[in-house]
Amino acid sequence: MCGIVGAVSQRNIVPILIQGLQRLEYRGYDSCGVAVHQGGELRRARSTSRVAELNEMVAVDGVEGLVGIAHTRWATHGVPAVHNAHPHFSHGTGHEAKSAKAGRIALVHNGIIENHDELRADLKARGYAFTSQTDTEVIAHLVDSLYDGDLFDAVERAIAHLKGAYAIAVFCRDEPLRVIGAREGSPLVLGVGVGENFLASDAMALAGVTDQIVYLEEGDVVDLQQGKYWITAKGEDGAARSRVERPVKTVHAHSGAAELGPYRHYMQKEIFEQPRAIGDTLEGIEGITPELFGDGAAEVFANVDKVLILACGTSSYSGMTAKYWLESIAKIPAQVEIASEYRYRDSVPDPRTLIVTITQSGETADTLAALKHARSLGMTNTLTVCNVSTSAMVRECKLAYITRAGAEIGVASTKAFTTQLAGLFLLTLTLAKTRGHLSAEQEADHLKAMRHLPVALQAVLALEPQVIAWAEDFASKENALFLGRGLHYPIALEGALKLKEISYIHAEAYPAGELKHGPLALVTSAMPVVTVAPNDALLEKLKSNMQEVRARGGQLYVFADGDTRIESDSGVHVIRMPEHYGALSPILHVVPLQLLAYHTACARGTDVDKPRNLAKSVTVE
Ligand code: G6P
Repeated sequence: MCGIVGAVSQRNIVPILIQGLQRLEYRGYDSCGVAVHQGGELRRARSTSRVAELNEMVAVDGVEGLVGIAHTRWATHGVPAVHNAHPHFSHGTGHEAKSAKAGRIALVHNGIIENHDELRADLKARGYAFTSQTDTEVIAHLVDSLYDGDLFDAVERAIAHLKGAYAIAVFCRDEPLRVIGAREGSPLVLGVGVGENFLASDAMALAGVTDQIVYLEEGDVVDLQQGKYWITAKGEDGAARSRVERPVKTVHAHSGAAELGPYRHYMQKEIFEQPRAIGDTLEGIEGITPELFGDGAAEVFANVDKVLILACGTSSYSGMTAKYWLESIAKIPAQVEIASEYRYRDSVPDPRTLIVTITQSGETADTLAALKHARSLGMTNTLTVCNVSTSAMVRECKLAYITRAGAEIGVASTKAFTTQLAGLFLLTLTLAKTRGHLSAEQEADHLKAMRHLPVALQAVLALEPQVIAWAEDFASKENALFLGRGLHYPIALEGALKLKEISYIHAEAYPAGELKHGPLALVTSAMPVVTVAPNDALLEKLKSNMQEVRARGGQLYVFADGDTRIESDSGVHVIRMPEHYGALSPILHVVPLQLLAYHTACARGTDVDKPRNLAKSVTVE
């Protein structure tokens, strides 16, 4: 993961670099750092605290310059510590910002270099001293070892030795007005300004600085100078690299710097934004038509007779929910695979498969790789449900449904999940209609229920005070079990994921019918068992599973639809939801689980928006 910013300008670029890092903290926040060309030397400041502290450091140390690079890190190689923080210098000897003498090459990196061990051994043998455990420092020394007065040339030659994924930004003490960027497998954009040019992992980092964006392609190397830039691309089939023109797009990137308003954390704000986010995602939809998914969708949908969903994390759980919808409403076989598994396993491809990727960011490395893998197997009918219209995923897929959740800042996904569900329900209805399984009356009923979702969500959000009372109990627990059945089993999974991500309580989810095949052994009075209890066809079965828990002394915490007649009792705590909401019920039932995780985390005093060890956008495999 990690976030990169770089700049060559005629003004002091440190404030722009710092602002860019603040907007990229969603990519990782184990450490951060900035390096500039100042007084003929490389200077840097690095911190294992947040970007706000780095900002104070650079002000105190007087770090400024016309050229610089900056980085926010999600640790892969080496613990989160200052000596592992980027930027890395070649011949780095631990000199920090105040040092007059540091190395010759300064470099930041996002990605993983797989052959770093071999390269390190070779560079050590040639006298390079390493001060970090990172794979990144290897690239800095490698560029240095190939430097012969032309940094662009050295970077082009260096990347030929790298195996793995990278986006890098590099500058050199001996060429004061030049930054070189390169990418292969990790995102990097060029921001074109007037008399200045920028690099960033995401156009959002440059919002307000420039809206003229070039999306660099795999293998590109870019040379940034004050009033000009150029790009070279790798040659096809071993041919030499050559200069290329890439389109400059006007991108109205959102800075993501949303105000918290009355909320304590972004996660809470985002939970409460869900009525608006769903309303925006469904706005303007008058009827079900393939064109909702882009030009050419009718032809694509006519040519598929199964669906393969590829996603990671929370997005995979919206995919699992969609599988139930697709098979029951659209009568189309649907399969869901975790992207990191699918991309490396032998599978049996069928060209009549609709590949559906689901991703909030549109940049998740495993999901992108899984898409490419599916395509390489001849499955070219591709669609994404994605929250970022400018993302790599949207560019790569034939069709797209853009959710309008707005920037999601909390690492734990909430509004992105429910808006994905809204988009996937529309996809279900569209495939149902295409395949003759949706009558005009059914279409009208479903659309009516979708339009009513914002109001229905408000009623669920009003349960927050009751959830807070439960969260106080949960805060002292070390384990929790989540149960659901059918369409709500993925919701139980999502509830358990939310709780573990931000409160660090171990949580597992099971289909309630599976309880007796193992997890029941864990049930004691110390084990809260959260139960998702919609008033659907499986309710009576679920009630039997709840009895199995009670008989072992387990404490049930039940989110029950208003019309279920499940009552509070000794060891049975009930929060009453509104009446059953039919097929769209998962969109309502996930909300109190988000609130439970949120308030439990608050009660435990964790860093809710930036939970330990995690990041919002996972651009490494
Ligand atoms: C990370 C985030 C999760 C997210 C997952 C997939 O792990 O912390 O919230 O669900 O990545 O991200 P995507 O952007 O592809 O939905």
